[in-house]
Amino acid sequence: MPETVFTDVRRFETIDSTNRYLLDEARTGAPEGVVAVADHQTAGRGRLGRSWEAPAGANLLISVLLRPPLGHGQRHLATTAVALAAMDAISTTGASGGGASGRVGIKWPNDLVAPDGRKLAGVLAEADLTSVTPGSRAPVVVGIGINVNWPAVDEDLPPELRGVATSLRQLAGVPVDREALLAALLTALGPRVASFATEAGKVQLAGDLRSACTTLGTPVRVDLPDGSFTGTAVSVTDDGHLVVGTDGGPRTVVAGDVVHVRPDG
Ligand code: BTN
Repeated sequence: MPETVFTDVRRFETIDSTNRYLLDEARTGAPEGVVAVADHQTAGRGRLGRSWEAPAGANLLISVLLRPPLGHGQRHLATTAVALAAMDAISTTGASGGGASGRVGIKWPNDLVAPDGRKLAGVLAEADLTSVTPGSRAPVVVGIGINVNWPAVDEDLPPELRGVATSLRQLAGVPVDREALLAALLTALGPRVASFATEAGKVQLAGDLRSACTTLGTPVRVDLPDGSFTGTAVSVTDDGHLVVGTDGGPRTVVAGDVVHVRPDG
C-alpha cells in the first residue's frame, strides 16, 4: 500500500452521518481510502448508540473507509490508528497551543482528551462484515469528531457537557484552522494505517496507544452490557485491549465504556 491512500476526499455541507455514507459506499465496493468530511451532520452517530452533535462549520467531522488486514480480535487497532493520527496532527499543527498546558492524550478506548481530562474528540468505528466482495477485505468505517472551534467558551456547551468537553480553540486560546488540521490528519493516517501490514507495525501502534493512554494507572469503572466492575487500569495489550486489575485478578476489556473514577468511587 502506498504511504497515503487518503486522497479521495468527499465534502458535504450537510449530511446525516459521514459514517453512514461511507458504510453505504463500502457496500457498493468503494475502496480503502475514501474520506467523507461534513460541515454539519443531522444525525451524527456516537458510541453506544449516542448522538454526536456540533454546530455547522465549527468542528471536524470526518470518516475514513478502511479495509484493514486485521482479524476480529485486532480491529480495535483501526480506531487506534485514527486516534493516534489525530494526535499526530494536533501536535504537528500546534492546534492545542502546546506549551505549559501539557499534552493531549487518549482516554481508552478512543477519546482524545485535554491535559485536564476534558474530551476533545471521539472515535466511532463501524464494521460491515456482511459486505465482503471477492478480492476485497471487510470494510471498517472509522469516524472522528474533533472539537476544533466549538465550544469557544464553556457557556457554549449544554449544561451536561460543561466540565466534560472542551475544544482545541479553548486550549490554544485562538481559533484553529480546520483545513490545516484535516490535511495533517490525512497525512499522518497513511503511515498509521500502513502499520497494520506487519506484526512490528501493530505492536508499535499498541505501544503508541499505551504511551498516550491517560487511563493507565487510573481507578476505573468498566460498564459492560451485562454489568459493571471496578479496578485500576494497568496495561494495554498488543491488540489495543485494556487490562484492568481487580480484586479477582486482571480482566481484559475488548469493548466497553470506561469511566475514570476517583479512588473513593
Ligand atoms: C463518540 O461517541 O465519542 C464517538 C463520536 C464519533 C463522531 C464522528 S463525527 C464523524 C463521524 N460520523 C458520525 O456519524 N460519527 C462520527
